[in-house]
Amino acid sequence: MSGTVERFDEKARREVGGWGRTTARRGELLRHPVYTRFLHWSVAIFFVLSLLTGFAIYSPWLYSWLTPLFGGGPMTRFLHPWFGLLFDVAFFFQFLNWFAPMTWTKADSRWMRRLKAYATNEAKVEPEDVGFFNGGQKLYFWLIAASAVLFLISGLLLWFDDTVPRWSVAVSYVVHDIAALVMLAGFVIHIYEGTAAQPGTFRSMIDGTVSRAWAWTHHPAWYREATGRDPREDYERERRRLLERERAVEAWEREQDARELDGGAGPRELP
Ligand code: HEM
Repeated sequence: MSGTVERFDEKARREVGGWGRTTARRGELLRHPVYTRFLHWSVAIFFVLSLLTGFAIYSPWLYSWLTPLFGGGPMTRFLHPWFGLLFDVAFFFQFLNWFAPMTWTKADSRWMRRLKAYATNEAKVEPEDVGFFNGGQKLYFWLIAASAVLFLISGLLLWFDDTVPRWSVAVSYVVHDIAALVMLAGFVIHIYEGTAAQPGTFRSMIDGTVSRAWAWTHHPAWYREATGRDPREDYERERRRLLERERAVEAWEREQDARELDGGAGPRELP
């Protein structure tokens, strides 16, 4: 089973990889190949379309705002299950693609126990055992996987509501709405984490690369695996380099001030 999935995934990566290019320059690492980016943005587009059309038919207040975007009420109602289905299809391929790196490990359970320290940015770098994805990212992935299944089952029952028992339709409404609200909360946190909270993350889903400093800061175990280098040593070396540079600039500025006070010999070049 896993061999078939791996072979399929490899073929898809090769074929879709030809649609674009990923170039890691000096000081950068390849994080997400073209196939992963293509799937991620397909999932994101169909998720947002499902969310907008879903909320449009869920709330009378949003109905008047959102349905004109999709050609009116009946059209929005028609499109919603199709967007949902395409979201599920895109996520199914993403699931196969990310299943291996998303497997839960002891390091992820340890990561979850220090969630508060992570959220409050207590440490400058992540613990050494944080790999390609951290526990929070994996939790989000599995939450989406569970929601995708719930959306599919409850969505099909709601779609063909005149052919199934009434009670299953009533339960499906509740399940569908709870899954949508949980996903919305996860989506908001995910956008914040992927952009403002961690500068340098967003580009990994645009050009596929991240800086080495980003990698040793947020995913040290992956950095070690990808480069064969010690993330702490490289972090310390870079920290010392920046400190020395800062000191050199300060010394240079003091020297310029002193020269000006002495009667104005021309500026000396910055070391
Ligand atoms: C539209 C705004 C979105 C932005 C800006 C965004 C950004 C990103 C970025 C930068 C990453 C890479 C993180 C890393 O390499 O560490 C990522 C990963 C991921 N994205 Fe998104 N994404 C968006 C929408 C979505 C949606 C709608 C879904 C699914 C419903 C989704 C699911 C995921 C998952 C499961 C991952 C891997 C785990 C994680 O990093 O949390 N994303 N996203």
